[in-house]
Formats: sequence, C-alpha cells, structure tokens
Amino acid sequence: MQQPVGEARPQSFDRVLSSMCTDPHPAARAAAERFLASNPGDPGTYGTVADLESDAVVALGELAGLADPNGYVTSGGTEANVQALHAARNLADATDPNVVAPESAHFSFTKAAELLGVELRTVPTDEDHRADVDAVAAAVDDDTALVVGVAGSTEYGRVDPIPALADVAADAGARLHVDAAWGGFYLPFTDAVWDFSVEAVDTLTIDPHKVGRAVVPAGGLLARETETLDALAISTPYLETPSQASLTGTRSGAGVASAAAALRELWPDGYRVEYERAAGLADWLADELSDRGHAVVEPELPLVAVDLPDEAFGALRDAGWKLARTGSGEARIVLMPHVSRSMLTEFLADLDRLA
Ligand SMILES: Cc1ncc(COP(=O)(O)O)c(C=O)c1O
Repeated sequence: MQQPVGEARPQSFDRVLSSMCTDPHPAARAAAERFLASNPGDPGTYGTVADLESDAVVALGELAGLADPNGYVTSGGTEANVQALHAARNLADATDPNVVAPESAHFSFTKAAELLGVELRTVPTDEDHRADVDAVAAAVDDDTALVVGVAGSTEYGRVDPIPALADVAADAGARLHVDAAWGGFYLPFTDAVWDFSVEAVDTLTIDPHKVGRAVVPAGGLLARETETLDALAISTPYLETPSQASLTGTRSGAGVASAAAALRELWPDGYRVEYERAAGLADWLADELSDRGHAVVEPELPLVAVDLPDEAFGALRDAGWKLARTGSGEARIVLMPHVSRSMLTEFLADLDRLA
C-alpha cells in the first residue's frame, strides 16, 4: 500500500556509512527554504539568487586557490564533470577528441564521454589506487582534449599526483580537470597539492552538497579562464540575459542559496574542524578494524575501505547499516559529517557480534 506523501519521512543518517550525502547545515536548510522558487538559470529575473551564486563561486574559488573564479553551482559532481569535458571538447582542435582518466575516476566521466561523443581512455591506477602517471602519459596523444585527475577518489579517497598529471597534460597540449567533488572541502587543510595553485589546472569540480553541507542539489564547477564558460555558452533569446553556460535550464535556487549559506557559515574554520574530526575518526576506525584482523586500505582522506567477509557484509546490511562495496569488493565507510564515534562504536559492536 502506498504511504500518503504527507506522512513520508526521509530516512535518518543513523546507519548511513557509504553515502557522500549528509545532514545539511541549519543555515543551509534555512536558506534553501527561502529560495525554493527562485531560478538561478534566469539571473536577469532572479537577481538575488544570482548574487548568492556569485558569492558561492567566489568562496569555492578561495577553497580551491583561485582568485576571480569563473563557474557556477551545478546540479552535482556529474554535471560539473560533464561540463568540464564539454568545454574541453568544444575548445579542442581535434576531429576525434579523447579524454584520459584513471580507472578511479567517477562513472560520471563515462556518461560525459558517451553524451559528448568523446573517446574515454581509462588507464590503470598504481598499487595504492592513485593515477599511474606513466600510464596516463602513454595514453595521451595529439587528439587528447582533457586529462582528468581525481583529488579524493570515490572508492578509496586517494589524491592523484596532480602536478605530474599537469606536466603530462601540458606536454600533450590537453586541458587538465581535477575532480575534487568530495575531497575539495578537506584538502585545503592537508599538504596535498591539488588545486589551481598548479598552473595547468583549467577546471575543477567541488561539490557543496557533499562535505560542504549544502542541501542537494549543489555541485560546483570552477574554471580558471573565461574561455571555459564561453565555450559552453548557448544563446537564450527569451530570457533577460543573453546566454547560459549550465547544462540544465531552470536550476535549484534552494541548492544555490544553501551553498552560499553553508560556505559563509563554515569556510574556513568550520570545515577545518570537520576535517580534523573526520580524519581522526578515520584513523581510529582503521586501527579498530585492523586490530580485528580485517585488511584495511590506509586512509588518506576520511574514507576507510576494508575487506569484510561476505557473510559479515550481508549481516551488517541486514542489520540496517547502509554499506556499499568498491569495485574490488571492499566495504567503504565514508566519514561524512553525520558519522560519529558513537555510531561507529555501535557498528563495530554489530561487526563483532555478526562476523
Ligand atoms: C569524486 C566524485 N566525482 C563526482 C561524483 C558525482 O557527484 P554527483 O553524485 O553529485 O553527481 C562523485 C559522487 O560521489 C564523486 O565521488
């Protein structure tokens, strides 16, 4: 029997371990509610939300080491990655363009390549799940429009060697895109070299609706030069503004306003505190799991991948834990803001009981 919509309630985050969504910040929720009917896709009409979008893009630029950023708040990391490839394809001087990405790249690049008619060349990662620079160098050629580096991979939380990938891209005359959709809100507080401080980085994905604590949907695409958005711009005769660079037309004012609010509230100190909390929790959890004899992939960012026997994995799922696996079969635990030490203590107790 169907539940009346008015009685449906979203599930709690109490047992959600593998998702990259989380509880939005209260300021983000409140801002979202105020802008539910505003359309940032029509900035001439909805000027207030357009101003908030500019604020959000400037703040995202600060996180990612770029003064005067170009970009917009996307529907998520997928749209940002699609548009990064879209711009690279439009700017490339190649009849048969290709994109080279490590196999750790998010599946949104498969969607992007299919949609855009670009050949996706996926190359192996090294033994520690980072892009293998030699393999990337071997895969690029004169038709390579884009090289992709991941700064915080979805499965293992790994940061690719962005400066080395930048050299490969520059030698090939290709653009370089960094996918920091998830990792971008942690990385400013680490020693990693991942952002626009690397000169060859042209575009970057960084999603407020993940660790940024905006509401869904709020992703982010940033670009160093105006030519990227120019390459995406479509003329929009019936709107008050002449062109649009986003993939979608009408966009979520709630997402945009919430991104601006979360960034205003949390950048930089709130995000720093959260990074330190989550990183400490990841190290603690990795030790706890290792002590129990499970093989753990040492965390770099707050994400722990661990080999669990099939039976234990199934029993934990049956007990309500929302766990997913990497392509190689490890369970992934993402230390998102809603994941607390007490929640993990309960999880470990269930693992001890069920394993
Ligand atoms: C590194 C990375 N890029 C892109 C995406 C896609 O983001 P979205 O689901 O917001 O489209 C994800 C999602 O988890 C991701 O982890």
